[in-house]
Amino acid sequence: MQTVDIEALKRSVLGDIAAAGSSKELEQVRIAVLGKKGSLTQVLRSMGEVPKEQRATLGALVNATREQLEEALAQRAGELQNSELEATIKAEAVDVTLPGRSHPLGSEHLISRLTREICEVFRGIGYRVIEGPEVETEYYNFTALNAPADHPSRSLQDTFYVRDRSGAETRVAGESEVLLRPQTSPAQIRVMEQEKPPIYILAPGRVYRRDTADPSHLPQFTQIEGLVVDEGISFADLKGTLEYFCKEVFGPDRKTRFRPHFFPFTEPSAEVDVSCGICGGSGCRFCGGTGWLEILGCGMVDPNVFGFVNIDPERYSGFAFGMGVERIACLKYDVPDLRMLLEGDMRFLRQF
Ligand code: DAH
Repeated sequence: MQTVDIEALKRSVLGDIAAAGSSKELEQVRIAVLGKKGSLTQVLRSMGEVPKEQRATLGALVNATREQLEEALAQRAGELQNSELEATIKAEAVDVTLPGRSHPLGSEHLISRLTREICEVFRGIGYRVIEGPEVETEYYNFTALNAPADHPSRSLQDTFYVRDRSGAETRVAGESEVLLRPQTSPAQIRVMEQEKPPIYILAPGRVYRRDTADPSHLPQFTQIEGLVVDEGISFADLKGTLEYFCKEVFGPDRKTRFRPHFFPFTEPSAEVDVSCGICGGSGCRFCGGTGWLEILGCGMVDPNVFGFVNIDPERYSGFAFGMGVERIACLKYDVPDLRMLLEGDMRFLRQF
């Protein structure tokens, strides 16, 4: 092989290197020249056949050529790797410039929120929050709460009784009928059966009544029961506590008043009214012209009730109260119809 041939080989390989469009192609060019059977490798191998006087010059030329080609190969390999990496990045790129698909989280229903807020008010003054069962017995719901056997609220017209498949009454311990509780008051009995005073508890939960839904009635709603039993508890404590609660929930501008009432489990008993938020107390359709809206029932625990749970009425006294959360929500936010709270209309619910 002659010097000219090697120069020609070099030029043609440099051309191939420049023309290689991918790392793969470049590798083929490398193998064809510098591989085991590559053209330049063969020249090196056949150096023995070259006449002695030419060997040194030719050898030096071949070696220099190999170095040049290796350098050119390495440089081109670097270029190709860069452009191939760029192409991969481009191909695998995720377009994050589009607006993301949002998943609305939903929010707490007004009634759940208000129930929680009322519990917080009482927690702040030392009450514990407990829950009683929604399926109750006549004993806890009526008898131990001092309701006489012929009390009208025991009737089938007012309370849902649980029947078995044949339609027969369901009884617990052979005597007490099973019902869906129409009030949270039975939770009072359950707590007093289990615990000794001092007792300061709140019992929120669902209640059921045989009512047709109308602007001021719901067949299922939420009540919060409160009970305090301790030494030296008086009606003044009841009044102070509930006035504090009303100011916390309705704000400082709404007035409250206590009206005498009757409940079987408290004596004396009262109902608490809050001044109407629509007319400010002067009288309008919302408050039936009275300027007042009833928000809860309350009273001093009847000593007969203590008799059912073995608490000494000579030593302890207490007060209790019960409120409807849906009703309080309507009065707080001037909602004219209880049913609006259950319809799930987002235009309404989003306002709270
Ligand atoms: N349970 C009564 C009702 O559903 C509300 C109530 C009134 C609860 C007076 C009480 C109370 O604890 O002392 O109408």
